Amino acid sequence: MATKKKTKAKSKAAAKKSAKKVVKLKSAKKPATKAAAGNGVPRPSTKAWGQAGRALDGVKILDFTHVQSGPTCTQLLAFMGADVIKIERPGGGDITRGQLRDVKGADSLYFTMLNGSKRSITIDSKHPKGKEILERLIKYCDVLVENFAPGALDRMGLTWDYIHKTNPRMIVASVKGFGPGPYEDCKVYENVAQCAGGSASTTGFRDGPPLVTGAQIGDSGTGLHLALGIVSALYQRIRTGRGQRVLAAMQDGVLNLARVKLRDQQRLKHGPLTEYSQHGEGIPFGKATPRAGNDSGGGQPGWILKCKGWENDPDAYTYFITQAPVWGAICDLIGKPEWKTDPDYATPPARLPRLRHIFDTIEQWTMTKTKFEVMETCNKYDIPVGPILSMKEIAEEPSLRATGTVVEVDHPKRGKYLTVGNPIKLSDSPADVRRSPLLGEHTEEILRDVLGYSAKELADIKTSGAITPPDKPAKAEAA
Ligand code: COA
Repeated sequence: MATKKKTKAKSKAAAKKSAKKVVKLKSAKKPATKAAAGNGVPRPSTKAWGQAGRALDGVKILDFTHVQSGPTCTQLLAFMGADVIKIERPGGGDITRGQLRDVKGADSLYFTMLNGSKRSITIDSKHPKGKEILERLIKYCDVLVENFAPGALDRMGLTWDYIHKTNPRMIVASVKGFGPGPYEDCKVYENVAQCAGGSASTTGFRDGPPLVTGAQIGDSGTGLHLALGIVSALYQRIRTGRGQRVLAAMQDGVLNLARVKLRDQQRLKHGPLTEYSQHGEGIPFGKATPRAGNDSGGGQPGWILKCKGWENDPDAYTYFITQAPVWGAICDLIGKPEWKTDPDYATPPARLPRLRHIFDTIEQWTMTKTKFEVMETCNKYDIPVGPILSMKEIAEEPSLRATGTVVEVDHPKRGKYLTVGNPIKLSDSPADVRRSPLLGEHTEEILRDVLGYSAKELADIKTSGAITPPDKPAKAEAA
């Protein structure tokens, strides 16, 4: 037995040696091209998928965000593995902690669902000692993210020039309502952005007022844009060694999401928008892209149709798309096989002026089924449909829990709550979804372990008023 072990060890050592030799031989020969050398990228990891750390491990974010747009961005970066240090004003912190509160004494869901996986430190950014702490953080971090009103960061003394001089590698990323121009100094909230970015004028029904959408495309949408800007700037920094400013204006972000409506604006010059149901109804177009109700935004006409139970359930509806390649299957399913050959219905252009009648007819069929039965039946024939899911149904949907899109986390003050996890799935970087921090929960930890303040310095900071509200002692604030 002992000899067997020895031989095994010997052959293992020999194998290791020859492996080394191979490596030596390979590296001795210079690869002909940069591409052959892997473009400077390290050898592929041999670790199991998901075991090679997270995508943004090592990236340190000085998170000066509040309300929704900025926190959405930094939360995504945190899910990707970045260390996000959220700076909050002593006393109250991010205003959303107390907004729309549902549980007395606990941070609101507004806050908790936008600030997961972050650390919280309280600093009065206008206090001299607070400024000194911030300077250390600026030197330590890679990215400063903020969405203050225009000029607020400068008023704190944190101008681009100052930050760049203090840490030339730092990326400074901002959400503002508008980019440079007539409105650059304006404060902006979600719905203002939806209106200014072209979403509201193109949402709703033609005969009704402009509508804002439930999806927070101005806030969360812009946060998402900013996150892309930040990771791009981090990537460029690998080559340049220097930081840069990243700006995501909410108007721009909304317009980017509404670009198909700018497409339609330009098409108007060349004739009516034939896929809009108003065309089929014989209503002339005006000078601007109109509101299109539930018309599909693409080339395949669609509409929202009633399903079984619609009389009592406000969400018993389905979206139904009359995609051209499956028109025959639709005709068979709804009991109109003759439409397959009828010249008034057989081709997409022939159908365009009759969409209202077509959808009314399909609705007669969908009303005999639940929205889930419609989904099940239509999917067999590749007909694209979508049940109108209520938030209740989404919250209870097991498949969304299984993928980590809806995550339940435990909070010391409010108990369990649902949050939306990382909607972007990386196969080698599992999302890190943790509860939101209490106000100032990590103040001491960051001052001591990250910034290296000694116990004596820490004691001085505590009594300085830089991390506590002006009229309260340090102990009361920490909770
Ligand atoms: N210590 C001391 N002061 C702090 C602080 C801290 N840790 N954090 C913030 N402040 C101060 C700021 O310096 C600012 O003071 P100043 O105006 O005297 O310079 C003040 O708090 C308020 O900041 P402000 O951004 O103006 O907040 P607001 O509540 O008045 O406005 C918004 C909120 C959202 C309208 C505004 O921040 C904004 O337009 N942001 C850009 C667009 C945006 O992101 N909108 C979407 C929000 S979801």
